[in-house]
Amino acid sequence: MGEGAATPSPTSAFRTALRSPSTHRGAGANAYAMNLVHNIWQSTIGKKVVMALTGLIGIGFIVSHVASNLAIFTNPAAVDDYAKFLRSFGPLLWVARAVLIAAVILHVVAAVQLTRRKQAARPVGYRSQEPQVSSFASRSIRWGGAILLAFVVFHLADLTWGWVNPGFVHLQPSRNMAASLTRWPVALFYLVAMASLGLHIWHGAWSAMRTLGVYRPSAHPLKRAVPALLAIAVAGGFAAIPLAYLFGILPR
Ligand code: HEM
Repeated sequence: MGEGAATPSPTSAFRTALRSPSTHRGAGANAYAMNLVHNIWQSTIGKKVVMALTGLIGIGFIVSHVASNLAIFTNPAAVDDYAKFLRSFGPLLWVARAVLIAAVILHVVAAVQLTRRKQAARPVGYRSQEPQVSSFASRSIRWGGAILLAFVVFHLADLTWGWVNPGFVHLQPSRNMAASLTRWPVALFYLVAMASLGLHIWHGAWSAMRTLGVYRPSAHPLKRAVPALLAIAVAGGFAAIPLAYLFGILPR
């Protein structure tokens, strides 16, 4: 992660990143490109852009995931067919997975490094702090992210590998969901994770849009209507599934 004493200041690194190729004459186009990527990564705004873009990749995956999972209410066989359909892409599926894994790693590494920089810039906390602009969603973003990471590891062990799912059958996700989510502690954990996901998307999508210059600054969290609606739709859509198993709406 390379966050040591030799790290250039975030602003000087960003300025260096944008220097014209002429300053790298003789080093070659490859060296210039490597230098550019390195310097952007070293800058604070560069890390924020990486967080924004990788977060948007995550949101893209999540939206398609919730949409395909909701078929469990209307046509459980379609959920199983979709799992088989995805496998029919062979190596292309692994390319998509690799992009997703790389996005998650970059997102987490940038988050940890930005948090360290923030702490280094203000090692002694405020004596009293009355939040002015922040919302619960923004203050819980790091904890929420940690809960989501733990959830994803459990979730893969539950519904992809079947290690913690006693009724697991490969390529039968509709059956595997029922076997897993009819256990109330598991359903409860899913619901807690979905609440974290909703808060994470609410603040994260807004923050990404601010970083990328799409939104103007706003002091009012409720003005963040589009990220809020997206968060409610995604977290609500996912949460409906464990709730439906808990209350017997979906068959066991
Ligand atoms: C109620 C909520 C959810 C349900 C019922 C659910 C269901 C599933 C199922 C059945 C699979 C296996 C699909 C297959 O083998 O083809 C799966 C895979 C996966 N889920 Fe979820 N999911 C939920 C929420 C989430 C959330 C919130 C995330 C991320 C934050 C997530 C990330 C993943 C990932 C990364 C995979 C592996 C995809 C792959 O194999 O390439 N899921 N999920």
